[in-house]
Amino acid sequence: MLDTFTIPTQRTTASRLAAVDFDQLEFGKTFSDHMLVVDYHNGEWQEPQIVPYGDMTVSPANSALHYGQAIFEGMKAYKNQQGDIYIFRPYDNLSRLNLSAERMCMPAVPEEIFMQGLNQLIRLDAEWVPNFTGSALYIRPFMFATDGMLGVRPSDSYRFMIITCPVGLYYNKPLRVRFEEKYVRSAEGGAGFAKNAGNYGAAMYPTKLAQQEGYNQLIWTDASEHKYVEESGTMNAMFVINDRLITPALSTSILDGITRRSVLQLAHDWGMPVEERKVSALEILEAQANGTLQEAFGVGTAATIAPIATIGYPGQDYTLPTPPADAFSHRVSAALAAIRSGEAADQHGWMVRV
Ligand code: COI
Repeated sequence: MLDTFTIPTQRTTASRLAAVDFDQLEFGKTFSDHMLVVDYHNGEWQEPQIVPYGDMTVSPANSALHYGQAIFEGMKAYKNQQGDIYIFRPYDNLSRLNLSAERMCMPAVPEEIFMQGLNQLIRLDAEWVPNFTGSALYIRPFMFATDGMLGVRPSDSYRFMIITCPVGLYYNKPLRVRFEEKYVRSAEGGAGFAKNAGNYGAAMYPTKLAQQEGYNQLIWTDASEHKYVEESGTMNAMFVINDRLITPALSTSILDGITRRSVLQLAHDWGMPVEERKVSALEILEAQANGTLQEAFGVGTAATIAPIATIGYPGQDYTLPTPPADAFSHRVSAALAAIRSGEAADQHGWMVRV
C-alpha cells in the first residue's frame, strides 16, 4: 500500500498488549490499542485521526440508535512466515461497504481514507496481529449516522471508524444447523445484500430459538416460499453434490461474501464444476437421502470455512458423512490458509501488504 497522506496519530501511553492471553481469544472481545475515527459533516469527510481505542460519546437522539442507519464490514489481516502483514482483499470490502452505504443513504468512504487508515492503524498495532494457525487480526470498519434528531430521514452527519481485534477460530467444531421455515432474514428488494446492522439484529431472535433447540445456526430460506436456501447465519452456504459445488446465486437478499467469491474462484481454478443457482432445501435433503450430498459448509470472513455436520428440517435431523481428508472444503480451507500465510502463490492478487 502506498502512503498517500499521513493520518495524525495519538499513541496510547498504556498498551494493553502484555495483558492479552493470545491462547484464549474469544471472538470480538479483545481490542487492539488504537482505532481510526473520521467524521463526515457539511457534505465532506473531515481529517481522519488514529486515537487510543476507547469509549466515545454520542447524542441520545443519535439517529443510528433509533433508525438503524449503520453499516459495517469484516475483514482480516495475517502475518506471513517472514512476519510481514497482509490484508485479504481489502478493496473488495471497500466496494461492498460503499454499496451498503448507498443502500442506506450514507456517503461513500473514499479509498484513500479507507486504505491509508488500514495501513497506518495496522502498522501501529502490528504486534496485535497473531500468527498461530487459524488466527488473524479481525478488522471491523463501520459507519453510523451521527445526527441527533428524531425525524425519520437520512442523517446529515456520519462517523466512519475502524477497530481491530486478534481472533482465533469463530467455530471450533462442525455445525448443527436447521432450515428456517417461519422467520425471514431478508426479502427480495430488501437490504439483505447490504451489511447493515439491522440485518443482524433482526436475525438474533430466530437464531436464539434455533440455539435453544440445540442448533448452532440457521439456514435462512427465501421470504416468499421458505423453499430455497439463502445464507447460513453469518455465512454464505455451499454444498458439494455429485462432485459439483453448488451455492445460492446472489440476489438482493443475499450478502455477496468475499470468502464466497474466493472459494468459487479456487473451485473454478481447479476445474471443479460450479453452480450458482437456486438450491432448495428439498434438493439438499434428497441428496442427503440418496447419498450424493458429499459436503455442506458455510463460508465467511469470521467463520472462514465452517463444516456443517447436521442439518435439521422440522421434526428431523439429517447427519452428513464426515468429509474425507481430500474433501473440497478441507482443500479449499488449506489453500486459502496457504495463500494467507504466503506458503502458496497469490495468483489473484488478493493479499495487500501493509
Ligand atoms: C464477518 O464474517 O466478518 C461478519 O461480518 C460476520 C459476523 C461476525 C457479523
